[in-house]
Parts: sequence; structure tokens; C-alpha cells
Amino acid sequence: MKNKFVVDRLRPFGETIFATMTQKATDAGAINLGQGFPDEDGPRSMLEIATQQILDGNNQYSAGRGDPLLRSAIAEDRYRRFKVEYDPGTEVLITVGATEAISASVLGLVEPGEEVIVFEPYYDAYAAAIALAGATRVAVPLKEDGDTWALDIDALHAAVTKKTAMIIVNSPHNPTGSVFSKRSLEALAGIARAYDLLVLSDEVYEHLTFNKIEHTAVASLPGMWDRTITVSSAAKTFNVTGWKTGWALAPAPILDAIIRAKQFMSYVGATPFQPAVAHAVVNEKPWINQMRKNLQTKRDVLSEALTHAGVKVHASHGTYFVVADIGNRDGAEFCFDLIERVGVAAIPVQAFVDNPEQWSSKVRFAFCKKEDTMLAAAERFRAAGIL
Ligand SMILES: Cc1ncc(COP(=O)(O)O)c(C=O)c1O
Repeated sequence: MKNKFVVDRLRPFGETIFATMTQKATDAGAINLGQGFPDEDGPRSMLEIATQQILDGNNQYSAGRGDPLLRSAIAEDRYRRFKVEYDPGTEVLITVGATEAISASVLGLVEPGEEVIVFEPYYDAYAAAIALAGATRVAVPLKEDGDTWALDIDALHAAVTKKTAMIIVNSPHNPTGSVFSKRSLEALAGIARAYDLLVLSDEVYEHLTFNKIEHTAVASLPGMWDRTITVSSAAKTFNVTGWKTGWALAPAPILDAIIRAKQFMSYVGATPFQPAVAHAVVNEKPWINQMRKNLQTKRDVLSEALTHAGVKVHASHGTYFVVADIGNRDGAEFCFDLIERVGVAAIPVQAFVDNPEQWSSKVRFAFCKKEDTMLAAAERFRAAGIL
């Protein structure tokens, strides 16, 4: 329904398909494999520290850039894993989830009328941030590559104009579960360097890669540290999507531009969670490894169930998500029907694109739910027969 109060910039952003599907799933008692949030807690030690921090009185505004302990933990972790150096004093910013890091980056770094390239399907917050900044979104489709997807470097090159200011890239990729190869990210980096573009690298699923596939940090590629904003978050790494604790890393002048926007959006994020996340970043690698293994098993359970139900399943190399192809049918209709007929909710990939044709037969399923929930979903697919 049209709402006369909504500003033009936000008019295209109505109720999201996630909200619609979740409501339908709840009404029908369906298993919700639509929205990508886990239903299990993160490491116990992290939860205990957050609780203790609240009881011990760490309940006021944190430092403007975030708790120094967390900033140092993140910088050290980045160096340990990727050999990229960030000064925790001037090059690390704690944000209200990765979402705020993304919005503040676009608002602080992109002028109205400039263009931002996103790869579609894309995470919906990118489009909203670009719209809020009065900038223009230019969507470049991923290309199907065997049983997964890859960056289309020729299409990316063709999309660059004099107005392009930034490329947003997300690997491991929501919603497809693709992990882009180092070589393709190097090609993207070549374009960014040649045209002097900023790159916002959304790495929120950096720890969730399967079958020993390695995550590539864009800022670690030659010549990219200077022009990359790396965004990540505790949400997906430690099963705390509700803590809204994320971060941005960038060279000081770029980060300063981001802070100009961020300081008036929220000023700071929630204080007591930050030392808890710092502890987890330093000490909970074994927990992350175990979670990754469990997720891989759940991915396999879901993929097998879908394959038995007669749909083509794409490979998922990372994230929480697997995409199925339902042939000559419409993904949105299929998802509504799936809730009624099978009792499972999913999300049509069309919800993430500007050009739906290429994606209308693709449906995304999340596998970040408890093992019992995933087995129950698999059983519902089995009972339903061919989908
Ligand atoms: C690709 C991507 N980026 C960012 C986010 C948001 O992260 P946060 O909850 O830390 O704001 C999500 C959450 O689903 C995501 O899938």
C-alpha cells in the first residue's frame, strides 16, 4: 500500500520478502529455512563475559571508535590470518552490526549521483544504503559457473563509468553460497586499481567456508589495502545476530569519512558485548571450527533431501545458504506453495535482484538451524515426494 509519508528515496523499499515469508511460515507452523539467523547460542565463555560486563557496570557509552580491546583483537586477528596490518587506534571502527558499517561507508564515501556497482543477487541493505546516499545502484549479475556462481569480470569492466565510485563485493556470498576465487578477486582488484575505485568487501561469512576452501581477504591483494573497506561482524561468526556488533577496517582517511556518518547514526554500539566478542575473537577458534563442521553436515543433509525431492541443488561452498533450481516455475509462487504443501519456508532469489528473469527459478534455503530442525525439514521433504 502506498504511504504518502515515505520519502521518494525509500519508496522502493517496502516490506521485505523475509518478513512476508516469516509471517506466512509462522501462521502455517512451517519450518523457517527462509531467514538466515541461527537458533543456537554462541560460545558459552562469550555469553558469560557479556552477562558479567552488564553486572559489573560496563553499561555506558564506549569509546567513539569502540572498545579498544575489541579493536586490538580484530586487528591482531586480521594480521594473523591475512598479514594485513591495521592500527587499532585509527583504522578499526566498531559498528552496530555490519549493516551500519555498510550504510556509513556508502554515506560517508559516495556523493549523490555517483554510481556503486553491486553483484546481483545482492544483500538488500546495499540497495537501501545506496538509495539513502542519493547514489545510483548498478547491478552486475554473477555468472553461473558449473554448479556455483562466479564474478563476471567482463561485465564488471563494462559497468564502470566516469561516475563509478565504489564496488561492493561479498564473498562468501549471500544468497548463492558461492566463494569467489582468489584469481577472480584479483581481477576485480585490477579494475578497482585501474579506475581508482573504492571496494567495500563484505566479509561477514569469512569463517563459514566448507571443504577446506580458503577465504580471500580483498584488502590482502596487491595494491588493495589503500582502497578497501573491509566489513565483518560477530553475528555470523559467533551466532549472535541480535548483538549487532560489527566492524569496519580501512586506512585512516577512509575510516574518518565513515566515522563522519556513523557518529550521527548511532554514535556507538552496545558496550557490554564488545569485551565479550573480543574474548571470542582471541580464544574461540576451536568453537568456530566445530560450528563450521556442523554447518557442513547440515548443508549436506539439506542438499541431499532437496536432491531426493527432485530439484537441482547448486553447490554451497560457504555461508549458511544453499540454492535450488526449480526448473520452469516461479520462485516466489514455489515458496508460497512450499509453506502450505510441505511446511518449509524458503526465499526466492528474485528478492535479491534488479533483473529477475535469470533468477526466477532459484530458491534459497538456510541451513543454520539446529540439527533436529534440519532433520525435521529433510523428513518433510521426504514425506512430500517430488517437489
Ligand atoms: C551479506 C551480509 N552482509 C551483512 C549482513 C548483516 O550483518 P549484521 O547483522 O552484522 O548487521 C548480513 C546478514 O544477513 C549479510 O548476509
